[in-house]
Amino acid sequence: MASNSDMTVEEVPGSYGTPFFTPISDRLEFYYQGQDKYFQSRVDKYKSTVVRLNVPPGPFMASNPQVVAVLDAKSFPVLFDVSKVEKKNVFTGTYMPSTSLTGGFRVCSYLDPSEPNHAKVKQLLFNILASRKDAVIPTFRNNFSALFDTMESQLASDGKSDFNALNDNTSFEFLGDAYYGVRPSDTELGTTGPSRCTKWLFLQLHPLMTLGLPKILEELFLHTFPLPSFIVKSDYKALYKYFSEAAATALDNAEKLGLSREEATHNLLFATVFNSYGGMKVLLPGILGWLATSDKSLHERLAAEIRGAVAEEGGKVTVNAVAKMELTLSVVYEAVRMDPPVKYQYGHAKEDLVVESHDGAYKVKKGEMLFGYQPFATRDPKVFERAEEYVGDRFVGEEGKQLIKYVVWSNGPETEKPTVANKQCAAKDFVVLVGRLLVVEFFLRYDTFEADVGNVLLGSQVTVTSLTKASASSSSSS
Ligand code: HEM
Repeated sequence: MASNSDMTVEEVPGSYGTPFFTPISDRLEFYYQGQDKYFQSRVDKYKSTVVRLNVPPGPFMASNPQVVAVLDAKSFPVLFDVSKVEKKNVFTGTYMPSTSLTGGFRVCSYLDPSEPNHAKVKQLLFNILASRKDAVIPTFRNNFSALFDTMESQLASDGKSDFNALNDNTSFEFLGDAYYGVRPSDTELGTTGPSRCTKWLFLQLHPLMTLGLPKILEELFLHTFPLPSFIVKSDYKALYKYFSEAAATALDNAEKLGLSREEATHNLLFATVFNSYGGMKVLLPGILGWLATSDKSLHERLAAEIRGAVAEEGGKVTVNAVAKMELTLSVVYEAVRMDPPVKYQYGHAKEDLVVESHDGAYKVKKGEMLFGYQPFATRDPKVFERAEEYVGDRFVGEEGKQLIKYVVWSNGPETEKPTVANKQCAAKDFVVLVGRLLVVEFFLRYDTFEADVGNVLLGSQVTVTSLTKASASSSSSS
C-alpha cells in the first residue's frame, strides 16, 4: 500500500461525548445493536477509518474507555509494531481481570516484550510446542475421530449434533494430550475440566459478553463490576493441580529458563486454557460454520485434495501431506479473515505517532490507547475483492498467495513469525495446523454435510444436521 507522506497530518476526528454518561450509552449501543454497526456508524459519521470513540465495558469496569480506533487494513498494523505501541496489561483491552484469577501473577499475554519474564515464558511455550510437534497429528486424529463417532451416533438418534459442545470437551482433552501427553480425563479432573475452564474464562470475559438476559441484569451483573474471583477458586485449584502434575517435564524446563515453578504453572494454565482452549472454542466452529454455508462443490474439491495428498503418503496423514493441501490452507485462512477469533487488539502509543489510513494521516499522542477491530481490517474492500464474501479458494495460486500477508488473526501478518521480542501469537503455526487437521479429518470421513449456523457469545454455533459418509474406496487412511 502506498505511503501518504505527501498528505497533511490531521487531528483524529471523532468524539468521546460526556464523561461517564456517553460511555454507558455507547456501551448499550454496542452490545444491543452490534459491534459492526457501532464502528461503521462512526466511520460514516466522521468519514474516516481512524476515529476517536469509546469502547466497552466503560464505567466502572474500565478507568478510561477512550481509544483511537484504527479501522482499515492500512492503519491496523500499527498495533503489531512493538516499537510504537506498548502492550502492557492490554490483552483484554481497557479493563484487566484481577490477577487473583491467575495466582497473583501477570501472565505472558499481559506482559510487554520489554519485561524480562515475557521472553522467558514465551520461550517456554515455544519449547513445549517444538518438543511435542510429532504428537500433534496423532493426538488430534485420535481425539477428533472419537468426536465424529459421537456426532454420527447423535445424528442417528436425534437428527442433529451440537458441534460446539462436542468440540469443547474434545479440545480440552486434545490439548492436554498434545502438550503434556496426559489426557485430563485420565486424572483426578475426570470430565470436569471443560466446565471449570469455561467458568474461569467467563470471570475474565464477562465485561465483554451478553447472554440475552434482561438488559438491567446484564448491565448490573456483567458490565459494571468484576465478578469476585472466589466463585471459581475451587475450579482454578483443580485445574492448577492438573498442570502442576501433567506438565512436570515442562516445569523442569521453566526452572532452567529462570522462572519459578509456581509462576510457570500459572502461565501454562493460562496459555492452555485461555489462549489455546479459549481459541479453539471459537476457531473450530468458525471454520466448520463457513464450510457449512459454502457450496457443495467446495466440499468436493476439498475431499479430492485431502484424499489425494493422503494417498500419496501411503494413506497416512503426515506433515508433508498437510503441507501439500493448498485449498485446505486457504479455507482456514478465509475463515479467520472473515471472522478473526480474537476481534479486538489494543496498545498504548509509546511516543507521539502519525497513523496512516488509506485516506489520511493522523496525529496520535504518547499514552493514548490505540484500538483495532480486526474484521474491518480483514474485510477491507480496498485489499480484498468481494471482501464480505467467504471465498474458499481466495488464497490459492500465485495471486492468492500475495494476499496472505493481510491475514492477521495472530496479532501479526501470517507471513511473519512469533518471536520473544514481539506479541504475535506464540502458537501461530500450531493453530493453523489444527485448523487444517479439522478439515482433513472431516473430509477423509465425509463427502459433504449440512449444518445450522448461528451466533453464540464470542463466535459461531454450529449444529450439524446431516453427514454424507465418504465411499469406502476414497477415504482409506490410517
Ligand atoms: C486457537 C486459536 C488462537 C487464536 C485465535 C489466538 C490469537 C491470539 C492473539 C490475537 C494474540 C495477541 C493478543 C494481543 O496481545 O493483542 C495471541 C497471543 C498469544 N497467544 Fe494465541 N491464539 C490462539 C491459540 C493459542 C495457542 C494454542 C497458544 C498456546 C501456546 C497461544 C498462546 C498465545 C500467547 C502466549 C500469546 C501472547 C504472546 C505474547 O505475549 O507475545 N495461542 N493469540
